[in-house]
Amino acid sequence: MKKVIVTGGAGFIGSAVCRYLVKEKQVEVLNLDKLTYAGVPESLQEIEESPLYQFAKVDVCDKDAVSALFADFLPDAVMHLAAESHVDRSIDGPAAFIETNVVGTYTMLDCALEYWRSLPKSAEEKEPSSNLCPLSSEFRFHHISTDEVYGSLGADGLFKETTSYDPRSPYSASKASSDHLVMAWFHTYGLPVVITNCSNNYGPYHFPEKLIPLVILNALDEKPLPIYGKGDNIRDWLYVEIMPVRW
Ligand SMILES: NC(=O)c1ccc[n+]([C@@H]2O[C@H](COP(=O)([O-])OP(=O)(O)OC[C@H]3O[C@@H](n4cnc5c(N)ncnc54)[C@H](O)[C@@H]3O)[C@@H](O)[C@H]2O)c1
Repeated sequence: MKKVIVTGGAGFIGSAVCRYLVKEKQVEVLNLDKLTYAGVPESLQEIEESPLYQFAKVDVCDKDAVSALFADFLPDAVMHLAAESHVDRSIDGPAAFIETNVVGTYTMLDCALEYWRSLPKSAEEKEPSSNLCPLSSEFRFHHISTDEVYGSLGADGLFKETTSYDPRSPYSASKASSDHLVMAWFHTYGLPVVITNCSNNYGPYHFPEKLIPLVILNALDEKPLPIYGKGDNIRDWLYVEIMPVRW
C-alpha cells in the first residue's frame, strides 16, 4: 500500500492514523475531512509540511467531490473513519449521524466501487476461476466501525465477529447500518472490504467531551466526575498513538 485515502483524518483516531502512515510507513496520505467541531487540524501539524501528506476539506456525503478525489489521487486503499462519533450527541440530534455515518458511508462505497471497477485487473481477476475471492484484488476499503454495534456486555463475556448486531443508541444504530452497507457492497458487487469493530479508544488529541479526557479535566478543575447510568457499565479501552511496530 503506497497511497491511502483516510476519511476523518483530522479526528482523534484518524489523525493518529495519518501521523502513523506518513511518519512510520512512508505512505502517501490524502486526508478527506469536513472539519466538523471534532476535527482538530493541530493534531496534524507534525506532518502537514510532508510531501507525503495532502488535505481536502470535503464532506463524505458529497459524491462529486469524493469521486473527483479518487480519480485524481488514485489510492491503493481507503480507511474510512469519518463519522459523527459521540453517543450523547446522537441522542440529542440523530440526523447528523444518519447523514454522515449512513449516507456518507454509502457515498464512499459508491465512489470506491466506481473507482475499483476502473482499475486494471490482475491476471486472476481477468480469468476468474469459479472460486475467485474478491479479496484477490489489491485494493481495500477499510471501514472503521465500533463494538457498540453488538450492544452491551454483562459482567463478563466478550464480543466476536459472529455476535449478533444489537445496537442501543442512534450512534451505534447508524454504525451498524453502515456495516451492513459495507457487507452488502462486498457480497453484491465484490468490492474488497475489511470491517474492524474495535472497543473504546483514548489517547493524545482525544476530544474533551469524551469520558477519559472529561474525567481528567474535571478532576484537574476539582469539578464533579460524571458517572454514566448507575456506574456499572464495563468497557474495554485501547490506547491510540503511533507505535513503532515493524510489520
Ligand atoms: N473513539 C472511539 O473510542 C471509537 C471506538 C470505536 C470506533 N470508533 C470509530 O472510529 C472512527 C473515528 O473515531 P474518532 O473518535 O476519531 O472520531 P472523531 O469524532 O474524533 O473524528 C471524526 C472526524 O470525522 C470528521 N467528519 C465528521 N463528519 C464528516 C463528514 N460528513 N465528512 C467528512 N468528515 C467528517 C470530523 O471532522 C472529524 O475530524 C469513527 O468511525 C468511530 O465510529 C471510535
